[in-house]
Amino acid sequence: MEDLEKRLKELDPTRLPQHVAIIMDGNGRWARMRSRERSDGHAEGVNSVTRITRFSSDIGIKYLTLYAFSTENWNRPQAEVDMLMNLIGWTIRRETPDLVANNVKIHLLGETDRLPEDVQQSLYDGVKATAHCTGLNLQLCLSYSSRWEITRAVRELAEKAMRGEINPDRIDEHTVAESLSTRDIPDPDLLIRTGGEERVSNFLLWQIAYSELYFTPVLWPDFDNSVYLDALIDYQRRERRFGKTSDQVKAE
Ligand code: FPP
Repeated sequence: MEDLEKRLKELDPTRLPQHVAIIMDGNGRWARMRSRERSDGHAEGVNSVTRITRFSSDIGIKYLTLYAFSTENWNRPQAEVDMLMNLIGWTIRRETPDLVANNVKIHLLGETDRLPEDVQQSLYDGVKATAHCTGLNLQLCLSYSSRWEITRAVRELAEKAMRGEINPDRIDEHTVAESLSTRDIPDPDLLIRTGGEERVSNFLLWQIAYSELYFTPVLWPDFDNSVYLDALIDYQRRERRFGKTSDQVKAE
């Protein structure tokens, strides 16, 4: 703990990423390494969710987006899907009072109407209870995939064009960004993936165009504040050029 306090001083509070997005991977392997059920890995993963949410809020991150259940995850064995759904609903119900106390606002991204009704209800209750919060914005991606989101946006824009509400010639990057479910949220500055795989798996493909990517072999249940700090410190060492030259960036 003392070590963490010391290392926190390495972090420049004026250059924190405004938005951190995380692909939480490795729950299953964490369980298998301990000869336990995959469900134990997911349950342990929830502890990482609460820990990282709390720490993000404490250090002043404004947006945290978690890939909790992808569109492709519906293809997992039904028992695992059911278990994850129950876990998500139960966690939200349990954590909502704490989120309110910590001024954390929940947003939902994804095709949430595919979730079981009781889980939807818990999520909407959580969204409602935290609607007034002004601290950390916590985006939970549930039944989310980027291709689903972009396809939906294209369909909506096409329908608006057919109705004459927009001129196709006027569609620009801003129009597209405004049609995505992240319309009110700045693009991620930092995308972290745990669990050792180095891919983005259909997550925020439009929004991560200029994000810094950080891959760690640490499995999600083991992702503690110290590993998170490693990622944040690494992020602060990088030079973000957005297509410009290093000299231009330094001159700014
Ligand atoms: C990936 O590990 C993890 C998931 C598909 C689920 C993550 C969900 C949670 C931790 C619960 C989130 C709850 C809330 C309320 C946000 P994996 O199963 O793919 O691991 P593996 O690659 O080792 O098999």
